[in-house]
Amino acid sequence: MQRLGVYTSGGDAPGMNACLRAVVRTALTNDLDVTGIRRGYEGMIEGDFVEMDRRSVSNIVQTGGTVLKSARSEEFMHEEGRAKAAQQLRQNKIDALVAIGGDGTFRGASKLHDEHEFPVVGAPGTIDNDLYGTDATIGYDTALNTAIENIDRVRDTADAHNRLFLVEVMGRDAGFIALNCGIGGGAELILIPETITEMDMVKERILSLMTAQRRSTIVVVAEGDELGGARGIEQALRDDPDFSDIDLRSTILGHTQRGGAPTASDRVLASRLGVAAVESLLDGHSDVMVGLVNGETKLTPLRNVYGRRKSIDYDLLKLTQILS
Ligand code: F6P
Repeated sequence: MQRLGVYTSGGDAPGMNACLRAVVRTALTNDLDVTGIRRGYEGMIEGDFVEMDRRSVSNIVQTGGTVLKSARSEEFMHEEGRAKAAQQLRQNKIDALVAIGGDGTFRGASKLHDEHEFPVVGAPGTIDNDLYGTDATIGYDTALNTAIENIDRVRDTADAHNRLFLVEVMGRDAGFIALNCGIGGGAELILIPETITEMDMVKERILSLMTAQRRSTIVVVAEGDELGGARGIEQALRDDPDFSDIDLRSTILGHTQRGGAPTASDRVLASRLGVAAVESLLDGHSDVMVGLVNGETKLTPLRNVYGRRKSIDYDLLKLTQILS
């Protein structure tokens, strides 16, 4: 292996830059050349490549987003797209890849490996924390802290007006952000896709909190929850005469959770995994993701990363019933 290619793909996540920096510097330290592939698989198909040296990753450990940019590529989902990408990689003498991204990124990487025998190691970068094979993904801790900070702000207004707030957080079809920011933000109720949410139960709980105890209430709703997110629940409550006296608002935190400077924890995680990804390739591993499990780096086959569902901690869920 003489030349390593590196790319970020899918939704950007805080800490992707710190990971990229670690990948580039580890590769250079091991006398490899490094090509940055811009805009994920889209750039790989088009040959949007840039030579990287130590200075091209200076001063980025603290920044959100991704200096290589990112994309979700429709073309790469088809065999012809992947064949074009493999041809570009070969023409540019790229021998192996580090992919920084989430499950869509790894599905693509694994196909590239299977169809074109391309050595590839993944580093988990997504705010959703929904990847099997790592206790935390790069960007999750930052997104969680952003969500908590915003819930704290909403709480001030909820208290001042004795209001009910439905706060919707990201996570696609996983509830890691919702569950943990709900606990950290002292939410009275947390609704996540991993559990069955019934509207009658939601209404009953809110009414008992708002009417009997006359308290402000914050309900954290994961965007993937089956009741249609904060807006869906808001509409159902507005249509119910029992809620006519309740002052109610919904807030969708949306992409505020994706950007911003990575936390210390994400910077360290990203740096460790970036180094480990390159070292794994040098050790001859491929078609695997490097994750952190119980404080140790661990390799998991890519097909297990996207093929298995990472479980939430059900003890945390019990905790919310005691604490609210
Ligand atoms: O996977 C990260 C994520 O932010 C999810 O939480 C969210 O569902 C999705 O990406 C949003 O994607 P986009 O930025 O393409 O709208």
